[in-house]
Amino acid sequence: MKSIYIVFVTLFAALSMSVFAAPMTIPMGKHLEKGVTCAQCHKENPPAKAVPFEKCESCHGNNDAMAKRTEKVEPNPHFNHLGDVTCTECHKNHSESVLICSNCHKFNLKTP
Ligand code: HEC
Ligand code: HEC
Ligand code: HEC
Ligand code: HEC
Repeated sequence: MKSIYIVFVTLFAALSMSVFAAPMTIPMGKHLEKGVTCAQCHKENPPAKAVPFEKCESCHGNNDAMAKRTEKVEPNPHFNHLGDVTCTECHKNHSESVLICSNCHKFNLKTP
């Protein structure tokens, strides 16, 4: 009886992990709070591929627009000598974001 129970629990854990893998373990933060839906970023249903940065820009504007919004941040992560880097190189949405500047610099910035 006990071993059947353990098999059941293990199966359930494995199943839920495979269904809700990567994107679900880390929430979408503000996007979820503000009611942004999967389909507003992903054009395929169900979502399967990475999202092109043009999607991000359709709501947030491009690097220049973002640079204006974060002009008081030092150094400004959206205006830099790398030129046009794409949004998702830093903002990951379903996993911990990164700061590609850190390959060369040590800045006190946290990417949301
Ligand atoms: C704000 C835009 C945005 C929203 C909303 C969003 N996603 Fe994503 N999603 C992304 C981005 C960006 C990536 C690529 C992540 C990366 O590059 O690490 C991604 C990747 C994924 C992937 C993995 C594809 C791969 O590259 O391996 C899946 C699956 C996924 N999303 C599912 C979902 C589901 C389900 C929802 C709705 C609950 C959702 N996403 C909502 C932006 C979004
Ligand atoms: C359908 C419109 C929409 C799309 C598409 C969209 N966003 Fe957003 N995003 C929002 C809204 C609304 C908020 C919350 C208000 C704000 O901060 O502007 C937000 C917030 C954010 C934040 C701040 C999060 C925080 O926790 O402070 C980041 C970073 C962000 N978006 C990046 C992205 C990236 C990268 C993409 C493309 C993968 C993307 N967004 C696509 C609407 C969108
Ligand atoms: C080099 C990494 C990097 C890239 C590329 C990048 N961002 Fe950001 N972004 C950041 C960091 C770091 C912050 C946090 C700034 C701060 O401390 O307020 C941020 C903040 C934001 C915010 C929240 C702004 C706020 O007022 O709270 C949004 C929205 C956003 N980014 C969208 C974008 C979009 C859209 C793109 C592409 C056009 C993009 N980002 C490209 C690093 C990046
Ligand atoms: C491939 C390596 C590399 C990356 C990635 C990189 N930088 Fe730089 N950065 C440099 C070099 C080299 C210099 C010039 C030498 C110096 O002043 O330290 C520089 C200089 C700077 C300066 C001027 C520093 C000063 O004291 O005048 C700023 C500001 C800056 N980078 C911001 C950024 C930001 C923001 C990012 C991410 C969006 C970034 N860098 C990404 C290599 C890089």
